[in-house]
Amino acid sequence: MAFLSTTDAFLLIVALACVWIGRSRSASPALKLPPGPPGLPFLGNLLQVDPLRSYPQLLRWAQQYGDVFYLRLGLQDVIVLNTAKAADDLLTDRSKIYSGRVAPHVAQDILSDGQRVLFMPHAREWKIARRAMSAAAGPAAAKKIRPFQDMESRTAIYDLMCHSAKGDEGPRSSSTQASPGREVPEGHWFHLVRRFSTTVPMFVNYGKRISRIVDNPQMDMVYDVVGNVTRVAQPGNYLADVVPLLRKLPDWMAPWRVEARRMHEWEMSLFGGLLDEEKVALSEGTVRDTFLNTYLRARSAAGHAEAPGNGLAGDTWMRDKLLAYTAGSLLEAASDTTAAAVLTFVLALLNNPPVLQRAREEVDSIVGPDRMPTFDDEENLPYVVACIQETLRCHPPAITGVPHRADEDDEYKGYRIPKGATVIGNVWAIHMNPVRYPDPTKFIPDRHLGGPPLRRAGGPDLEGRAHYAFGFGRRFCGGKDVAEGSLFILCARLLWGVDFRAPTDPVTGKPRVPDFADEDGTWSTGFIAVPKLFDVQFAPRSEKYETIIRRSFEELQDEWRDMGLLPDER
Ligand code: HEM
Repeated sequence: MAFLSTTDAFLLIVALACVWIGRSRSASPALKLPPGPPGLPFLGNLLQVDPLRSYPQLLRWAQQYGDVFYLRLGLQDVIVLNTAKAADDLLTDRSKIYSGRVAPHVAQDILSDGQRVLFMPHAREWKIARRAMSAAAGPAAAKKIRPFQDMESRTAIYDLMCHSAKGDEGPRSSSTQASPGREVPEGHWFHLVRRFSTTVPMFVNYGKRISRIVDNPQMDMVYDVVGNVTRVAQPGNYLADVVPLLRKLPDWMAPWRVEARRMHEWEMSLFGGLLDEEKVALSEGTVRDTFLNTYLRARSAAGHAEAPGNGLAGDTWMRDKLLAYTAGSLLEAASDTTAAAVLTFVLALLNNPPVLQRAREEVDSIVGPDRMPTFDDEENLPYVVACIQETLRCHPPAITGVPHRADEDDEYKGYRIPKGATVIGNVWAIHMNPVRYPDPTKFIPDRHLGGPPLRRAGGPDLEGRAHYAFGFGRRFCGGKDVAEGSLFILCARLLWGVDFRAPTDPVTGKPRVPDFADEDGTWSTGFIAVPKLFDVQFAPRSEKYETIIRRSFEELQDEWRDMGLLPDER
């Protein structure tokens, strides 16, 4: 509500009052809603939840009410599921009902012209888009992407190894200042991690890579687009999200609509521009095994070479705008989340030196100093994998998950789940549950050792599942295996060859490490929880490691050229 002017707030209250009176007269449900904190008339619990950082409050209520509680945010019913069992019972076992989304009107209907996959209802278009994304980034595709992740991680550890020689501010281009959604300076090491996390989906979708670390407007725009959609979708930002009546106003009375349409054109200059580039490449005879290229060829063979517009052609094939947004959705879903996980990994290990030392010892004993770790080493590096699992448990990037929707009235544990309710799998509460994870705030990779196979975040076994960072049921992350591949290869190689430590505080003489547990001080607000900027000193662990990393980077440049990709520009 901090976002609303007094007039807006007044209008909102009046509109909510009208609808609320209408609803309470008509509703006479047999079952009670789940328990929950008392709210105000009309507004419900709206003022009790900070939309920019809701997870601490949702955790407190989870501790008070148990398995499930109910909130009302304005007119919106919200059901919050706080244990792995409750979330799995509904979001996974009854996924036929619980796989929709309550789409924010301005962000989905206008900014995204209804085409953004993350916000789509559980309907035909989503199923077609999801199937195509699974072919491009699902488990089978993820195996084929590994050689590329291997190569990009060689660039990334070279960049990180060389970084401290430049200092954490590093070079800044003028575009840094001009770019509104980008709060990471180009010279900061966060930027190097972002390059790595973004180049992978760039390749998966478009067969391109991000070869430069400065002056790369296309990569900057990916983060601007992610930052912008997150802001637009933020509850409380647009009255039209909660008062449908306002959607009928003409444009001259609805400046937000005009502005959101303008932002849509801007987004399309990225997503649509990339699709156009791929079409041109195809028309020039470029055939490659990437998402858009493969899809366009198959669509053409099915008789839909030209399919402009939104939605589906022939009820089966994505038309251009849906296709552009589906690839764009992969790009944005993959970039910030993977970068956040890598940054969280580094922060977690700096906060836990004995864990860092043990992970490094494991890599040293299995891999030795003469070569880098590879994907083949993964099964012999269980502690490293456990550190990654624990990173995703201890501070998951999508910390409140992505809310689902109840598409039908339902009943759970004797309580009513109303049709249309937002249903949140409270990932943070599940991960902080001391029964499931003893000492939940502590970073303890050992808790993931032993038992079922390592890659089990999405496994069906409730007890054996390492964490819920990738979500639930049919909406489960569409790129989990790609994400795990990126995390493993970069983190293992960093541990192997690059020393990273916090700079010394000149006043205290102690290492300056942000406190992992300080939510306000250390973590950004918003949809993806990313550590705020912090400085790290990187250096090769010895001359021998430096030689291997440098030589590998130099050899890589010919490999990029052989693949028809741009070499690194440094
Ligand atoms: C550490 C990295 C990542 C994390 C923590 C993460 C987490 C998530 C979460 C929580 C969701 C929502 C699940 C739900 O609704 O229950 C999601 C959805 C999605 N993710 Fe990821 N993700 C990551 C990386 C990736 C990557 C690398 C890709 C693609 C290559 C990807 C593609 C997607 C897509 C397409 C969706 C939308 C699914 C839908 O709405 O149907 N993600 N992810």
